[in-house]
Amino acid sequence: MPKKTKIELPYSVRVEDLEVGMYIRLPMTGWMDHPFLRSKFLLRTDEQIAILMRSGVSEVQVDPLKSKLMPRKSAARSVQTSQQPSDSLKRKIDELWKSKKRIQSKVETRRKQFSRCLESHVHRISMANELEKMILAQAPSDSIQAYIDSQWENQPETSDQTNINISIINNTSSSLPYHHGANTAVLSIILALELGYEMDELKSLMFGALLHDIGLEALPQGLRIYKEKRQKSENRARNAHIKLGVELLKKAKVLDEEMLKVVEQHHEHINGMGFLGLKGDSISEFAQIVAICNHYDRHINNPVVTEKRTPHRTIVDMFNLFRERFNNEKLNKFIYTMGIYPAGSIVKLNDGNMGMITGTFPDDMKNPEILLYDPDLDPRDALFFRIKELGDSVEIKEDIIPHTIPLSIRSYLNYTESLNYSPF
Ligand SMILES: [Fe+2]
Ligand SMILES: [Fe+2]
Repeated sequence: MPKKTKIELPYSVRVEDLEVGMYIRLPMTGWMDHPFLRSKFLLRTDEQIAILMRSGVSEVQVDPLKSKLMPRKSAARSVQTSQQPSDSLKRKIDELWKSKKRIQSKVETRRKQFSRCLESHVHRISMANELEKMILAQAPSDSIQAYIDSQWENQPETSDQTNINISIINNTSSSLPYHHGANTAVLSIILALELGYEMDELKSLMFGALLHDIGLEALPQGLRIYKEKRQKSENRARNAHIKLGVELLKKAKVLDEEMLKVVEQHHEHINGMGFLGLKGDSISEFAQIVAICNHYDRHINNPVVTEKRTPHRTIVDMFNLFRERFNNEKLNKFIYTMGIYPAGSIVKLNDGNMGMITGTFPDDMKNPEILLYDPDLDPRDALFFRIKELGDSVEIKEDIIPHTIPLSIRSYLNYTESLNYSPF
């Protein structure tokens, strides 16, 4: 007969029976109900047990599978609940609470910043939709130009929250409308600023990127979506969106040369293998920027689910497989800005944790910031850590395509759900 495997489950242990080496789970549900950073952790010092005793906890759950030793009920404790805490223990508890309050205020600030960036992005999307509608309906050219000028003058305050904006684009929520032009415009502005342009030089880039694919609207529905594999005849028909886009803008008397070049040249490759065969510097600077951002967004946000790529995979492929298509300096700056695992990537760590990258640091590429998935914490209390704060040997094991993980985890990591922000 096959031998039955004994399943070891977490069990309750009195705090006075705890020992260093046990992996515990606290009974408190709120993050601010205890002074520790996490509600599940490996006991590493007697001081942690002493702090637990002072926190009014009588029992905790011990997970035998993650513990390094089992409880010995007869073990004599060196710290008793009745003892008065020493000055150093009082100081330690005080420090832990102060550090938690700092983290809590950082989380609140981050959520407010995210909420503002999200509002700006939703505004940009409705502006792009409105502008497209006016151009396609051949509205009077004066009113189209006036709309462009007023949107440029009154655009949402330019935020320096690059990582948050990248995160919004990389982790587009089902409840958030998707607009490829708006995403490409944000990425293009981020890249241009990194390349040293000033914001007031970027009007043509912003509207060119926003409208770069407007010609697709003049094509049959089946050709509008980007697919990697198409029949040659389909590809030829789809390529016509370049010419159609320029015609639509000229008809609307949008005659900004730089903007028209973005629409016309955004599929050019620096090696001359693009639609029109333009090479190197004969492709406009802004079109070179948009080519990179267009490629990135259409891969990570492809509406055809099976053709979606993770941000990390897209970055790696752009560098390894498609490098010859793009201007070298601009591609390198783009990768430097996005990081190896761009903000918004869902990743698994080598310690078993999972989370969403919320910040990357070009000078410390392997130590990004992560919003950790912790089912014991309410999503509103979910915490950000630099990966090395979780342990010296902790690193990213792999990135995950969001639709392959349970909806509950996706929602947890999705700010837009936890912010309860409704764009319409
Ligand atoms: Fe295009
Ligand atoms: Fe595009």
